[in-house]
Order: sequence, then structure tokens, then C-alpha cells
Amino acid sequence: MLEALTPQPQDKILVLMAQFREDPRPAKIDLGVGVYKDATGLTPVMRAVKTAEKQLWERELTKTYTGLAGEPAFHAAMVNLILGAGFADRAAVAATPGGTGALHQALELVKMASPNATVWVSNPTWPNHTSIIRFLGLNIAEYRYFDATSGGLDAEGLLSDLAKVAKGDVVLLHGCCHNPTGANPSADLWAKMADILANRGAIPFVDLAYQGFGDGLEADAAATRLIASRFPEVLIAASCSKNFGIYRERTGVLIALGEPSRRGVVQANLAYLNRQNFSFPPDHGARLVTMILEDPALCADWQAELEEVRLNMLTLRQSLAEALRRATNSDRYDFVAHHRGMFSRLGLTEAQVNTLRDTHGIYMVGDSRINIAGLNARTVPILAQAIALVGG
Ligand code: LMR
Repeated sequence: MLEALTPQPQDKILVLMAQFREDPRPAKIDLGVGVYKDATGLTPVMRAVKTAEKQLWERELTKTYTGLAGEPAFHAAMVNLILGAGFADRAAVAATPGGTGALHQALELVKMASPNATVWVSNPTWPNHTSIIRFLGLNIAEYRYFDATSGGLDAEGLLSDLAKVAKGDVVLLHGCCHNPTGANPSADLWAKMADILANRGAIPFVDLAYQGFGDGLEADAAATRLIASRFPEVLIAASCSKNFGIYRERTGVLIALGEPSRRGVVQANLAYLNRQNFSFPPDHGARLVTMILEDPALCADWQAELEEVRLNMLTLRQSLAEALRRATNSDRYDFVAHHRGMFSRLGLTEAQVNTLRDTHGIYMVGDSRINIAGLNARTVPILAQAIALVGG
């Protein structure tokens, strides 16, 4: 049987991680995978997470199974964090292994409920979006999103492609901090996108993996909240990996908003899907998140540290844009300061990306996406100089 298997397409982000690990050069710089790093290169355990872990160790009496869709307290805390009050009667919720688990479960739900629907994704999008959609055999289409020349949005292309969406199609939107480009719609553009999608009868599917990394916890949820309030049905896949820094705990949530009268059936389907795929979801990270969000002191400490992380990335953006201005003697990289989240797509060619890696030991994804948090005050000028040297 196993001899029938053929190699699978490799995820370029994971390939890059492996290449970086194997590179013996001590001065190498990792701007690949989206993991936050502080100025010393460490991905720290957040203070509130450490405190909650200590409390949990002292208080936890059992490790028996949790609920099949996770704990109701986690559901309520996450719905409140993402959507605020007023959605409980519409929200079916399941804890999932990370944001990717939520994406996968949401797409399985689409496959069960509407197998012929087309799932629309931005061009470009996170490579694993298209990979999972194809893996599940769903139809896929792309809408224009990014203007590589300006480093900003192709708003006209975006709106005109969204106007082609058919009734019942699912439209995957990055709620904030677009991955891989870093370019995000303004509030005004979000409103126009929502108008068009509502007219088309589309089902929005929001991927919210970076809440708190862009303009702040509330601001980063604004587009998701707008969509939740405007559409009868919405899917939301959210991750706690980045904003709680608990990557390896695999903590995510799938929220399916629908008619209150259908909530019970949708909830049962989410639980069924969990059971078919992995049975009970991981609990440790979800429990820490619940403890933090429910405890005012822990929550305040978490928010303060998350804000430090966000501001650190903003400072790095600012100084990289300035260093690139000086190094290239042009303002063509000013978009880096306007982008939000962990990523910016720089618009370099694949050959330039390869030279940066091979000659300068600087690793970025092949499409020239950099992880801003992989930089620090020392490496910002090194990157800017190297970009100028490769002719960027
Ligand atoms: C990324 O885009 O680098 C992150 O979301 C990590 C991953 O799993 O790809």
C-alpha cells in the first residue's frame, strides 16, 4: 500500500524553516516563519501565560476529557474577545487544534453543508489556505488584492472580483494583518466589501490569526465585528498562537454564526466534526486563555504585554522603512511603515530573495515576505543594506 504514495507538495514556509536551521553561518537572519521574537531573538512565554500555568498546576484536579467541542467558558471568552457582547445566541463554537484546525474544520463544514460552493481567497494568501481547500476537494477561486507596484491594495481589482462571487459562495477574508502582504483594507474599504458581498449573498469566512498585532485588540476585531453584524451567516477561524504566544499548545476556535433557531444543530455538527477528525480538542492552551480572559488582573497584564509586542513591531517597521530610504535612496519601501501585523511583502524577485539567502544569510519566503518581528535594531540596517546590494 505505502508504495503507492508519491511526494506531496512542500509548504514553502516549512521548507525555509528547515533550510535556516541547517545553515551553519552564525550571522544568519531568520525572517521566515511567522513567530514573534523579542530583541534578543527569543519567543518568550508571556507573563500572564506563565502565571496562569502556575495557578493551573496548583488547582487542576483532573485531566479527564474536556467537552467534545471544548469548554463553554473558553467559547464564551473567545466570542467576547473577538465579537464583543450580543452574539451568544447566534454563535456555535468549537475549540480546535490551533487556527489551522479551525480553518480545516470550517472548510469541512462547508463541504458537508454546501459541497458545490466555491471558496474565494485573496491573491496572494497564506499558502496553507489554498492547500487545505484543495486537499478537501472544494472549488477555489481568487480575488485580486495586492498591488505589487505600490505595496498597497488593489482596491479596484478587489471590489470588482468580489462582485463576481455567486450566491452561497464562501469568501475567505483576513480579519486583520494580511498574510503574506501586510496590506490591509481601510474601514471605508471594508464597508464597501461588505456591501458587495451582502448583495451577492456570499458567506464571509474570516481568518483572524493576529488580533492585537496590528492596530490593537479592538481595532483588529473591527472588520470581523462589522461582518458579524451584517451577515446572517459567518464563519470565523481564530488563533491564539500569536496573540497569546502559545504556538505549540495548538489553541484555536471556530465560530459559526447563524440563525439563533439553528444554533443547536450547527453546534452538534461542530462537535461531530471534531469527533471525526481528532475527538477532543487540546485543552491546556484553551484553559490558560480562559483563565487570562476571565481574570481582570491577568487580562490587564496580558494586554499590556501584547501592546508592547505590537509597538515593538511598529517601531521596527518605522526604522526599516527609514533604513531602506537611506540605503536605496528612494521612498519605494515606505509602504513597510504603513503595513500592519507581522508581515510585509517587499516586492523583490525570486532571484533577489535567493541572493539575500545565499550571499547574505538573510532568509525570507520566496515571494519576498518578511517577518518584521525577526528583525531587531542591529539587523534592520543589515537588511536594508543587503536589499540595496541585490538591487532591490
Ligand atoms: C506563517 O505564515 O508563517 C505562520 O502562520 C506559520 C505557519 O504555520 O505557516
